[in-house]
Amino acid sequence: MEVIRKAVLPVAGWGTRFLPATKAMPKEMFPIIDKPVIQFIVEELLDAGIENIIFVTGRHKRPIEHHFDINTDLERHLEEAGKEEILENIREISHMTNPIYVRQKEQLGLGHAVLTSEPAVGYEPFFVSLGDIILERGSEALKEMIEIYNRFGKSVIALFEVDREEVNKYGIAKVKEIEDGVYIIEDLVEKPSPEEAPSNLAIVGRYIFTPKIFEKLRETKPGKGGEIQLTDAMRLLLEEEAIYAYKFEGKVYDTGNPIDYLKTVFEFALQREDIAGELIQHIQELISKQTQLIDRS
Ligand code: UTP
Repeated sequence: MEVIRKAVLPVAGWGTRFLPATKAMPKEMFPIIDKPVIQFIVEELLDAGIENIIFVTGRHKRPIEHHFDINTDLERHLEEAGKEEILENIREISHMTNPIYVRQKEQLGLGHAVLTSEPAVGYEPFFVSLGDIILERGSEALKEMIEIYNRFGKSVIALFEVDREEVNKYGIAKVKEIEDGVYIIEDLVEKPSPEEAPSNLAIVGRYIFTPKIFEKLRETKPGKGGEIQLTDAMRLLLEEEAIYAYKFEGKVYDTGNPIDYLKTVFEFALQREDIAGELIQHIQELISKQTQLIDRS
């Protein structure tokens, strides 16, 4: 069985839920305090032993390329300023990965973005990690997924439990549990109503695919909004090959829309010793002012 060596990171989307911030700046570069979202996702892959990273990029996505490149001017400046610690960190990011950039010329959907990566992936199994979802202890989840792949030799997707009322925001899986935390997929439904949903297990943005997915993506007709949906191609794949699922038990941080992004930033900030104390004090002051205003009205 082939070893998984590569990961595709689709980062070419418009980020319409975050406009106008995303007009010229990729949402994948938004900071969680001082580290861009995309760096968390690359680190997760590296920690899981996946070193070949293929970014599917588009217009306005250059900052991602710059982030993982060497910036000699900045390094010289930090060196001259004697800022050793941050200099080391900056150098580490530049040498983290030797990425491949593939251009999605038209934003025809996530499925299309994955298909665009085919020449760089070749005929071998590969990861897909969404560029705006951070997982708590994500590399452990990826390692579990690799283990399932190594046992069954078929595609593996990560699922997580969502509230029943929220199933209409996700791709939802109908599953059969084959052992503790490991499932086999029976069907997939994109954004069902709570009544229609076959479960409350949602697709979370981490996938291992066999290369057969490319064939299925080519057969996939444009769906909602004229986009080629990855879930539709997965349904076609299901007709020919089994797809396994791993149930992710940690926290999922969506950074692709303003409110969930803000919640993520706050949660991460509260874990930071250098920030948490002052931030909590500030929030308490804000809340008490707000409560006084409400009491008065
Ligand atoms: P999203 O649906 O979250 O991203 O796709 P989006 O389309 O940029 O966001 P909205 O809905 O307009 O606000 C998940 C991932 O797939 C990438 C995105 O960059 C994101 O990381 N994507 C999406 C592509 O690479 N190409 C596409 O055509 C669509």
